[in-house]
Formats: sequence, structure tokens, C-alpha cells
Amino acid sequence: MQTNHIYHENCLVTLDRMEDGYLPLTVTSPPYNVDLGNNKHNQDKSYDTHDDNLTHEAYMESMKEIFTKIHQKTQSGGRCIINIGDGKNGRIPTHSDYIQMMSEIGWMPMANIVWNKRNVSGRTAWGSYGSPSAPSLPPPFEYIMVFAKDSYKLPQPENKAELIDITKEENLISVLSSSIDYIYDSEQTYYTKDVPKKEVDDFVESMKQSDLLKVQNFFETMPKLSKTHHFECKKCNYTEDIVIEGLQSFFV
Ligand SMILES: C[S@@+](CC[C@H](N)C(=O)[O-])C[C@H]1O[C@@H](n2cnc3c(N)ncnc32)[C@H](O)[C@@H]1O
Repeated sequence: MQTNHIYHENCLVTLDRMEDGYLPLTVTSPPYNVDLGNNKHNQDKSYDTHDDNLTHEAYMESMKEIFTKIHQKTQSGGRCIINIGDGKNGRIPTHSDYIQMMSEIGWMPMANIVWNKRNVSGRTAWGSYGSPSAPSLPPPFEYIMVFAKDSYKLPQPENKAELIDITKEENLISVLSSSIDYIYDSEQTYYTKDVPKKEVDDFVESMKQSDLLKVQNFFETMPKLSKTHHFECKKCNYTEDIVIEGLQSFFV
């Protein structure tokens, strides 16, 4: 198995090249089984070798084979992230069938992210003209679902400190700049989605230290969910209060 190499082949063949427990992370956008190619909006994007119009049952079976193999090839504590949308404007609840299917394989559901694609323009609820008996609502979002194998904790390498290639300050600037939606002055509003990330980073970096501290203070004092879990080992009587709070606890 070569790294930094693209294998243009069926992923089942690629997965067979790997030893068990090889993968720390898989990120994938599998086929959605929405008959891409016959969809009037997507005729130029048909898949030439893949049948995207199976029965839902056959589709879920074929995906189960793939995600079972990914599970076998994933290390303990590894993760699998799936981007998927529902079929037929929500009439086929593909994303919840994935959660069911992944749980049956042994994957542990870890997080669900709703990816707001903001592509609602030009889409609306329509029925037949003059007889809107069954209007449908094309959803402007998809799901990104995170699953873990065996444990929610990813094993940390012993030389973790040596591997960190970003300073605390760079990390802070990156977190701040990704959290800004828009910046305004007395004349104009600037949306960060319309400018390159580097420009937003440069803007944050150019802020006065006193202003940066104010923004940092905003993040540190913003409301957050916190839960203290009292842990008690019945065998050895060890007790500990574990505080689950903020992003740090989410990402461990
Ligand atoms: C939802 S699309 C993802 C497209 C890709 N993310 C992109 O942006 O171009 C799913 C893709 O998986 C491919 N595919 C389907 N079955 C596959 C398999 N067994 N192994 C590898 N790729 C497969 C399809 O041909 C299609 O290109």
C-alpha cells in the first residue's frame, strides 16, 4: 500500500491492499443513489461506471459491504466521516439508514453535522400546477456524520509534542478568523465567505493586541454547556469527577 498515491479503482480492491487496523481516518462522500445522470440538473455529471439507481435495499447492502471493510481496516479509536444527503427530497431517509447500518457494523455514532449548503435560491415547494397535492421541499442541506471504532479517543503518538507544527498564536488566529461571518465599518459590510481566507487571517493578525484580547475574552466568557460526571469504579473504588465542557472535551 503506497501513501500519497491515487488508486483509481473500486475502493473494495484498495481496501484489500491494506492490513487490518491500517486506517486512522476515512472521509468519504459515497454515492447517494439518486439516479445521478438522469436527473435533469446533472446530465453532465453522470457516473459512467456506477449504477446510481439501485433499489434502496440493494444500495444500502452495497454500502454495508464497503463500510464493513473500512471498519475492519480501521484502527481502534479511528474514525469514519460520511457526507450524505437524503433521497427524493427527504422521502428516503438515507442519513438515518446510514446511522442504523453503521451501528449494525459496530461503528459508534459520534457526531452529526448539518452542512448548510445555502443553495436554497430558486428552490421552493411545488406540487403539480393547479393541483399542489404533494408539494416537495428540496432540502438545502446535507449531513456529515462522524463515527468512531471501539473508542471515542484517538490514540495519541508518544512524540505528539514534536508533531505539532502550529504555534498557539497561529492556532488562535486561525480559530478567530474562521469564526467571523462578516466585518463592518460605517460604510460597508464585508462577508468573509467572499474573500480569501488569507485576507481574513491577515485582518485578524493586524488587529491591535488590546482588540484581540477583547475577542479572546468574548470566546472565553461565552455561554457553554458543562456537565460534571461522577465516575466511580466498583472494583477498585477509584472515584473522579470528570468535567465535560466546551470544544476541548468534544475533540478528545
Ligand atoms: C457522491 S460522489 C463523490 C464525488 C467526489 N466527492 C467528487 O467531488 O468528485 C460518489 C462517487 O463514488 C464513486 N463510486 C461508487 N462506487 C465506488 C466504489 N466501489 N469504489 C470507488 N468509487 C466508487 C462514484 O462513481 C462517484 O464518483
